[in-house]
Amino acid sequence: MRILEVDRLGKRFGGLAAAADVGFHVDEGEIVGLIGPNGAGKTTVFNLISGALVPDSGTIQFRDKKITGKKPHQICRAGIARTFQSVQVFPRISVLDHVRLAQLFGNPKSRSGGNKWDAAQILDFVELSGMSALRAMDLTLANQKRLEVARALAAEPELLLLDEVMAGLNPTEVSQAMELARKIQERGVTILMIEHVMKAIMNICDRIIVLNYGQKIAEGVPREIAANQTVIEVYLGATEISNLKSQI
Ligand SMILES: Nc1ncnc2c1ncn2[C@@H]1O[C@H](COP(=O)(O)OP(=O)(O)OP(=O)(O)O)[C@@H](O)[C@H]1O
Ligand SMILES: [Mg+2]
Repeated sequence: MRILEVDRLGKRFGGLAAAADVGFHVDEGEIVGLIGPNGAGKTTVFNLISGALVPDSGTIQFRDKKITGKKPHQICRAGIARTFQSVQVFPRISVLDHVRLAQLFGNPKSRSGGNKWDAAQILDFVELSGMSALRAMDLTLANQKRLEVARALAAEPELLLLDEVMAGLNPTEVSQAMELARKIQERGVTILMIEHVMKAIMNICDRIIVLNYGQKIAEGVPREIAANQTVIEVYLGATEISNLKSQI
């Protein structure tokens, strides 16, 4: 079943088309990757879906609701949560309070006491429970990224948008982040993820959408994307592909 449908989405910044006629869908339960070179418009698409930016044209449908142009808090409460490419934690606020705050502001069920999880369970799920009293600024980058995921999960989303949660992590941390994404999928949360770490994208995504200069240039399962000549030329490069082919 369709959970997200983006149709002919457009956003310009002055003379630059950051998103031009972008259309794709996400089905319930999938992990879908959004990839492409730097400046391709990936984060812009997330900003449009999450309400941080208003599109110039096109529509965004979440389940049976049009969410085009809605405010970020309305979109979050409708069931879409996100993380940020550059980590946006509150340095002096504790790990536990980040999750509590997100439950209060992002989750409409929390006020009626209808949360599926309490804050401690969410921290346990992302494996941060031993750090709940630490301030966000005292966490490693990998753990700050986990905290962003915890905060997004606190809103109890049906669709989670992950913007480069693996960037800057070492190979062990990348593997752990892949495991976490799979665990989130197993809990029934659909994931749309932007990532440059191709090993991760090719391994965990059910489908991949490729952007370049604001336009969708390819869409398909990982094997199709890894073999797509245009994608190799504009983004993946021949060397990376030969390394990846042994892994997918
Ligand atoms: N608020 C803004 N004002 C002006 N230009 C912007 C703004 N946001 C993004 N852009 C421009 O739009 C284009 C797409 O940016 P975007 O951040 O969406 O790329 P991206 O695909 O996420 O890249 P990266 O992989 O580097 O994160 C870039 O040229 C960027 O400089
Ligand atoms: Mg980006």
